[in-house]
Amino acid sequence: MTKRAARLFFFISTLLSALIFVVLTIDSHRQFPKLTNAAAIDEQVVAGKDAWHRHNCTNCHTLLGEGAYYAPDLTKITQQRGAPYLREFLKDPSRFYSEERDGRLMPTLNLTEGEIEGLIAFLGWVSRIDTQGWPPRPILVKGSAVPGAVLGAATPGQAASQDPVELGRAVYNATPPGCAACHSVAPGVNIVGPTLAGIPATAATRIASPDYRGKAKDAAGYIRESIVDPNAHVLTGPTYAAGGRSLMPTDYGETLTPEQVDQIVAYLLTLR
Ligand code: HEC
Ligand code: HEC
Repeated sequence: MTKRAARLFFFISTLLSALIFVVLTIDSHRQFPKLTNAAAIDEQVVAGKDAWHRHNCTNCHTLLGEGAYYAPDLTKITQQRGAPYLREFLKDPSRFYSEERDGRLMPTLNLTEGEIEGLIAFLGWVSRIDTQGWPPRPILVKGSAVPGAVLGAATPGQAASQDPVELGRAVYNATPPGCAACHSVAPGVNIVGPTLAGIPATAATRIASPDYRGKAKDAAGYIRESIVDPNAHVLTGPTYAAGGRSLMPTDYGETLTPEQVDQIVAYLLTLR
């Protein structure tokens, strides 16, 4: 290559790269409002973002990977945990974690009810940002340290087999819905919700009890009811409920397809 040709090559390729950079930047900015649901940012979301800054949540947590790595990333936490749980957790984190068992603790920040509702709206908005599949697996603390609580990386539909039980196992371990983050399938291990080991027999006992408030007639019906209508019959336990309402997400009836619910029921029925 002559000196002149090299110079030309340098200028043209620099210009071309700069052009591609500018076009891609403009394209990204064009997509931001849609990817971030900018239209959904209301007063509550803004109030929550202010509370997020005021209490320096980012000194310990990350959102979209930005922040400190002391505590779990909260980008998808609303999808993983649901609002009822977050409301109780933010009131008093020590109810859900113990320093001896989990090794570290989130301080009780004495948030006001308004701040908590704002934070839930803000984190809910963040969780709906289209991150194009990031993070590839949930970054959760709770559950991962508990034996038997396998946090799945699989997403629904990735199961190799067409067997409903295998499909159900894959949905159960995926995030969302995040069942495995709150329920272990190991006997005696209660995370936020009770262990689901032996759930068919447990279900039969629940239905037979005179306190039972739901409508289920058999184990499959009880498991289905627990998923789509957690408040039909609320169990009492240290981290199970608040004010008589279950801390389990209440929108699985909408966020899961009927087939996915069938598959989870089929899987849980095998946990004898
Ligand atoms: C001093 C560090 C610290 C600060 C500040 C902090 N957190 Fe946390 N947070 C933690 C830790 C640690 C955990 C994980 C629990 C554990 O392992 O004990 C956690 C867990 C959480 C969880 C997840 C609970 C779960 O079970 O998955 C949420 C939600 C949360 N924090 C929200 C917040 C919000 C909102 C703020 C600010 C208002 C905040 N945190 C401020 C340390 C902190
Ligand atoms: C935020 C935590 C949380 C998540 C996520 C969660 N659950 Fe629960 N679950 C609970 C709590 C707490 C209870 C007990 C309170 C109640 O009666 O609803 C419960 C109860 C249950 C029960 C009844 C158990 C029994 O012993 O009678 C079943 C079955 C169940 N959940 C299945 C699921 C499935 C399947 C998923 C995922 C689609 C799921 N849960 C997601 C917290 C959670």
